[in-house]
Amino acid sequence: CGIVGYIGKKDTTKILLDGLKELEYRGYDSAGIAVLKDNKIDVFKALGKLINLEEKVNSSASNDYHLGIGHTRWATHGKPTELNAHPHLGEYSYVVHNGIIENYKELKDELIEKGHKFVSQTDTEVIVHLFENFYNQLNDTTKAFKNTISRLEGAFSILLITKADPTKIFFFKNGSPLIVAKGNEKEEVLFASSDAPLIGLASDVVYLEDGVGGVVSANSIEFFNDNYSWSTLPSSKQFAQKDGYRFFMEKEIYEQSTVVSDCMIGRVKDNEILFDEIDSSILDGINEIKICACGTSYHAGLTSSYLFERLSKIKCNIEVASEFRYKEPLLTKDTLFVVISQSGETADTLEALKMAKNAGLKTLVICNVDNSSMTRTADYTILTRAGIEKGVASTKAFSTQTVVLWMLSLYFAKIKNLISSEVLANEIHTLREVPKTLCISDRIHEKTKRLSKRYLHGHGFFFIGRDVFYPLALEGALKLKEISYLHAEGYPSGEMKHGPIALADPELFTIALMPQNLLYDKIKSNVEELSARDSTICAISPLDFDLADDFIKINSCDHYMLEFFEMLVVLQLLSMEISIRLGNDVDMPRNLAKSVTVE
Ligand code: G6P
Repeated sequence: CGIVGYIGKKDTTKILLDGLKELEYRGYDSAGIAVLKDNKIDVFKALGKLINLEEKVNSSASNDYHLGIGHTRWATHGKPTELNAHPHLGEYSYVVHNGIIENYKELKDELIEKGHKFVSQTDTEVIVHLFENFYNQLNDTTKAFKNTISRLEGAFSILLITKADPTKIFFFKNGSPLIVAKGNEKEEVLFASSDAPLIGLASDVVYLEDGVGGVVSANSIEFFNDNYSWSTLPSSKQFAQKDGYRFFMEKEIYEQSTVVSDCMIGRVKDNEILFDEIDSSILDGINEIKICACGTSYHAGLTSSYLFERLSKIKCNIEVASEFRYKEPLLTKDTLFVVISQSGETADTLEALKMAKNAGLKTLVICNVDNSSMTRTADYTILTRAGIEKGVASTKAFSTQTVVLWMLSLYFAKIKNLISSEVLANEIHTLREVPKTLCISDRIHEKTKRLSKRYLHGHGFFFIGRDVFYPLALEGALKLKEISYLHAEGYPSGEMKHGPIALADPELFTIALMPQNLLYDKIKSNVEELSARDSTICAISPLDFDLADDFIKINSCDHYMLEFFEMLVVLQLLSMEISIRLGNDVDMPRNLAKSVTVE
């Protein structure tokens, strides 16, 4: 979901709509704005793409509003309908909200009892009714807003406007991100849930901390407490344009070679790995690494868990953040707690990080977005430098995360003195080869295009691999699910015989990751078992494989991690080409959000 807000003399509807467009890549299924002039609030809402909202606004909005709020909604409570889209109305006030109000049922019952009428199925609507309930009693908007906040439980970032005080926007941040900014023009204040909509319009911003709220008018920004500080926003707008590619995802797949080399600059030097962001004391007193993440970032973490044990000889375990949070985990201070996140905002990962921090553990985040909630929370941050990732299906974030984690495992190995200089030199030499490996040949792309014709008819896919190729299999299956809506599972190939092989028939498509440099014979026998049971096999390997129905030959090389990146690109391209052929929206697949700030 995304939030924007504006007070100022410029064209309010345009600023709000432009802001929402900047947040569009995060995924949404409806959008709306509420704009105010002369004590009258107009509201526009539309389902689906922002263009629908824009058409409505352009056909009936006037252009002299002096403030407004806007929102893109990714449905949590209540279906994606216009009625459930934000902003939500009480009688004379509107609210936009990111997050979840956990006690909304109880509040709603209480307010209904008092005569309030609800029209949507959302949790958000209680906020605005609660506000009006207090305002009707107190006749003071600020007090009413503060009382409202004190009754809300859960995660919520809010902007509220009201005819009872028509020159102001009330705001509060708890959980979901929110930024308040002084506009570059006089008497101008902006809000957004991430900095992209603000770049170019404002330079002084406050990234709100949890529990901070306030009220703004054109010439004043008042915070309810002192827990805030101003910082400067970069002025260059790194507009992610498609540069001739059909989709942002395609551009981002092709960019991987460049961003991975950016990610290594200053970190891979001669025969050493360096991280300015951390120092060797990070491992003082540490015997174990615990990783938490979600989605694709979890797969990067799972890959690295093999590398931390193999190269750094440190016990490493990993969990999806939503599982970790509620299992009453045993946290000991000899554990380095690592979270991985493209956005730095994923609610479950952020909460896991806070839990570890509160338990006194050392925390490290591997993240793509500086100044995100996670980078501001963790003790140490390593940025992945992938640049803005717009495609909802993550690609370049994954490759840079994996490279950072691989470098980190070597850095730790060196600190612990557990790696021979020959092995370290060989690993560093291999790391330097990764950008070249990620350069995509026409042959490979054409091959995936051709195969996509056949594979879009699959009724089920198994992606199988062993060791680090198992997380890669999970990632390949996730990409296919996300953008092609085809059922796919990633599986450790040695486990197929313990159940899934019962599914084998010619319509079961198996994508087999068969690296030359790691357990080739083992995976070969697993694939033979499937082939003997008539499963259709697509093998990805540098070595010819007779039993494959389809074969994607990758370049031969002498390290399994290079094969890993060769195969990664093949998997990304294959799912993208299948999705294109199916006519899906590659960059904004249905039901998904780029950054999930609700648990
Ligand atoms: C969402 C996205 C995924 C992403 C996951 C974790 O589900 O659609 O692509 O992998 O969140 O996001 P993060 O920003 O924490 O890496």
